[in-house]
Amino acid sequence: MGMITGGIFILLIIIIFLIKKQVNKKTVELKKSRKEWEEIFQAIGQPTLILGKNYRILNANKAAVKKTGLKLDQLKNKKCYDLYHNNNNTFKNCPVKMLLESNKKQVIQRQLHILGGYYMVTVTPIINKHGEIDKIIHIAINITERKKMENKLKQEEQRFRRIYEHMGVGIASVSLDFIFENANQAYCDMIGYNEKELRGKSLKDVTHKDDLEKLLKELNKLKTGINEHFRMERKYIHKEGHTVYGILDVSIVKDKKGAPQYFLGSVVDITERKIAQKEKNKLQKQLLQSQKLESIGTLTGGIAHDFNNMITVIKGTADLLLKKIKKDDKSYGNIENIYKSAVKAENLTKKLLLFSRKKEMEFEEININDIFDDLIEILNRLISENITIKTDLADDLWSISGDSNHLEQVLINLAINARDAMPEGGKLYIRTKNEVITESRSEKIPHVTPGNYVRIDIEDTGKGMEKNILDNIFDPFFTTKGRSKGTGMGLSVVHGIIKNHKGFINVYSEVDEGTIFKIYLPVSTKKASPSVKKVKKNKKYKSLDGRGTTILIVEDEKDVLNLIEDVLKNYNYNYISAETGKKAKEIFREKMNEIDVLLSDIIITDYNGIELADEFKKIKPDLEVVLTSGYSNDKFIYSKIKEKGYSFIQKPFDIKDMLELIREKF
Ligand SMILES: Nc1ncnc2c1ncn2[C@@H]1O[C@H](COP(=O)(O)OP(=O)(O)OP(=O)(O)O)[C@@H](O)[C@H]1O
Ligand SMILES: [Mg+2]
Repeated sequence: MGMITGGIFILLIIIIFLIKKQVNKKTVELKKSRKEWEEIFQAIGQPTLILGKNYRILNANKAAVKKTGLKLDQLKNKKCYDLYHNNNNTFKNCPVKMLLESNKKQVIQRQLHILGGYYMVTVTPIINKHGEIDKIIHIAINITERKKMENKLKQEEQRFRRIYEHMGVGIASVSLDFIFENANQAYCDMIGYNEKELRGKSLKDVTHKDDLEKLLKELNKLKTGINEHFRMERKYIHKEGHTVYGILDVSIVKDKKGAPQYFLGSVVDITERKIAQKEKNKLQKQLLQSQKLESIGTLTGGIAHDFNNMITVIKGTADLLLKKIKKDDKSYGNIENIYKSAVKAENLTKKLLLFSRKKEMEFEEININDIFDDLIEILNRLISENITIKTDLADDLWSISGDSNHLEQVLINLAINARDAMPEGGKLYIRTKNEVITESRSEKIPHVTPGNYVRIDIEDTGKGMEKNILDNIFDPFFTTKGRSKGTGMGLSVVHGIIKNHKGFINVYSEVDEGTIFKIYLPVSTKKASPSVKKVKKNKKYKSLDGRGTTILIVEDEKDVLNLIEDVLKNYNYNYISAETGKKAKEIFREKMNEIDVLLSDIIITDYNGIELADEFKKIKPDLEVVLTSGYSNDKFIYSKIKEKGYSFIQKPFDIKDMLELIREKF
């Protein structure tokens, strides 16, 4: 028994020994691991705290001691919000509070004043074996530098965004399947959409059809890597439908691996430049046109002068013959044909003279509206019933200095052209208004000085003109109406007259829509001239009989002289003829008492008709003077003649007109 008890005792001692050894081993291990943990905790370079659930600091590592400047004792038991935020309570978004509420790790960025700067705070729970939060590890990592960088980047980004938004160049990014992703203000302004409207729209929707094929081809080259960049001048369609011009630069943006991501385009709006260029080209053409017309004018002026004399003779002779023979004479019809053709030739010569501006104009202060008052009646007769004339004449129209007969001619020509352009009917608008041409506008128009103008619009809803026709309409003899219908001189005459008034004329035409002629005449005073309705002189005389009046004819054209002699003889005038100035002077000296009227051409080979008349007038003040001319180059001649009280008749003249003029004297 004693043996057994002794054995158990020994066994017990052995067991106790073994257990103690085991416990010792565990204690050593635990101490070791605690030491290791402490070493790691202290080695963490960032301020690290161990918190209790009550926010109190249980432990703090060296970095925390160092950064806060407090001793470990001072740190312990302090509440974390007191330490870091100098607060006596938790605050909104407190990560510890959020962790306690959610049981989850929290990461936030914030300023920690005591540490100075910006920190990323990570709070991690330590969970006990019951699954409850036991402690909290609070690590604060300094991210001040990173934050600064971020801010700098943000500022840069904002700066670039501002530039992007406000720069004059339009910028847009477009996906690889051509859908708009972004566009800046300049881009939006250029094509009239806002960014919202543009997003999701296809590039094709804003591209002019002329450029679509080329654009897509170039974009595909970027996509497939054939090109890196391209530039093209292209046309866009504005939201409101008109064309906008731009110079486009496109490159493709790729990702790190080189895969294409989207297209980035910049556009410079050149619409204004383009329009100005077009305008300039047009004006250049107009300038050439007017130079061309100028030289043709000189030529036709010369021809018309010679024609005048010939036509005077043809028409006058035919007229005389018709008066001499009976209507049933077999030649009557033939002579009548000669007469009618001569009248036609005379009309054409008149147009040529008007165009070449060799015919003198009588300028006076007029109100254009007055011309229309008389004209509307004539136009209504000229224009068929299916055309409605609509007038809109400005009430307070400024006056211009002009020749109403010639301006009437302009308006009739334009109205007839409008009529011819509307065989199926339509509307003819006639408008007048005051218009101020500013410096900037005038720069685009050669030969036009800024100033005040009266504008006349003649607009029709007719067939309009193709460009190739429009380019030629002011050319003399240009007509699309066929030889028998139009002479093609209408608009040349219009052009000449307007130019003589120091005005200008523009034409706009759209095929099948209509045509508008805009005439600008310089204003003489910024006042409306009082409407003076001209009382037309009643020129009808009962008899053209000369009753023995004696006329001295001075004419160096033999044929014309013969004709005048024939006419005067027929109407009971006495006449004495001279073919030179010298001869005329001899006759006058000899027979001045007999001579009642001097009928002289202004340009005689050896003399000037006006000077001749002046000389005779000095000697015989009651002598009546009638001067003729087929061509008077000098603008002042006509007014000079009028001042002196001499009469003037333009060749080719009508016999009746000439006789009436002589008869008027008595
Ligand atoms: N309002 C218009 N609409 C369409 N075409 C026009 C218009 N005005 C002029 N044209 C074109 O310009 C051409 C030249 O006009 P212009 O007045 O000089 O001569 P014309 O009318 O043909 O002949 P004329 O005036 O001697 O009768 C015309 O033949 C026509 O083709
Ligand atoms: Mg015409």
